[in-house]
Amino acid sequence: MREIILETAGVRSVIRCGAGAFEKFAPEIDGKVFVVTDTNVYRIYGGLIERTFKGAPVKVIPAGEKSKNGRRLFDILKAMAEADLKRNSRVVAIGGGVVGDIAGLAASLYMRGVRLVQIPTTLLSQVDSSVGGKTAIDFCNIKNLVGTFYQPQEVIVDPTFLKTLPAREIRCGLGEIIKYAALDKDIYSKLSGAENIKDLKFLGDITADCIGHKARVVTADEHDLNGTRKTLNLGHTTGHALELYFGGKSHGEFVLIGMYYEMYIARKLGVGGGEYFEKLTSLIGQVIKVPAYADLQGAVAAAGHDKKNESERITLIVPEREGRSAEITVGRDEYLKYLTECAKELGAGV
Ligand code: NAD
Ligand code: GLY
Repeated sequence: MREIILETAGVRSVIRCGAGAFEKFAPEIDGKVFVVTDTNVYRIYGGLIERTFKGAPVKVIPAGEKSKNGRRLFDILKAMAEADLKRNSRVVAIGGGVVGDIAGLAASLYMRGVRLVQIPTTLLSQVDSSVGGKTAIDFCNIKNLVGTFYQPQEVIVDPTFLKTLPAREIRCGLGEIIKYAALDKDIYSKLSGAENIKDLKFLGDITADCIGHKARVVTADEHDLNGTRKTLNLGHTTGHALELYFGGKSHGEFVLIGMYYEMYIARKLGVGGGEYFEKLTSLIGQVIKVPAYADLQGAVAAAGHDKKNESERITLIVPEREGRSAEITVGRDEYLKYLTECAKELGAGV
């Protein structure tokens, strides 16, 4: 079992990682508990949840990104009011990033903030979304437009939950894990040396390393203000743009696709390359086959709206060398040219 402490202004977040963490720590959560989960998680783990939190109200929301909306948020807040939660109550979010993001937002709003415990059950939520305090719903068709920074008091990360996770969701989490490898030397060498990066025991161990990395970044830049936290967006500009425009794969798979295309651009601009990029490419190849997209103008337009852009140019966070990333900007025409070239190399239009 590993314990990681994330200290930010006024909040000490205790993150416990390891097989059996749920069984050991969930029953110790004190105060009145209010559980938020989704239909899929409840179908599999409803019995466990009811046994662990005897008598606690359980709000089950429909599984999927569509639940991250204002109506569902107020639905949760209403159930919290009906359960007569007080400021010392605990909102316990059990599920993937969707549950964590909306339950975290509800916890931050109710009585201007009640205590929050995150119990992530997908690989993506274990390595990324449950840690660091970003909460959100989607609004006006824009992802994560409305949200808060609100740190959980406690995060319980138990890889046992991954046993029931569909393969697509494992690939999704691996996208973020390979992103961490491009930011952190130790994670890079563990992944490079792994026999099978999809092995659940390996994933359980590497998850704590990824959380450790994220905790250090969030400690240095909780509110995404000084450029440190932005590094966690490596590969995401192009990944998000392709996801918005083409869809059909999980978020984490698009992070890997974005990394691949952005490494092509970085190389063209003289940033990174060589054996290091080949190794990262080989890690990406262990998870997905990078698609050769055609007609990339729409994706370029989508990248133009990325929050990291500070001008008309497109901002990319790319790997540079082991343990180091770089921020580069590229004009839209040049961006389209390189994306198209990269897609052609992958076989588009042949
Ligand atoms: P998700 O919450 O939709 O979960 C994916 C699917 O897996 C769902 O169908 C869910 O019901 C199911 N599931 C969850 N746990 C399971 C289990 N143990 N066994 C079987 N099925 C299970 O998706 P996600 O990938 O976990 O999270 C994506 C969300 O996270 C997005 O909304 C994204 O914006 C957000 N996110 C937030 C942050 C942050 O810092 N707050 C970071 C990254 C992503
Ligand atoms: N997932 C990126 C962040 O938490 O900043």
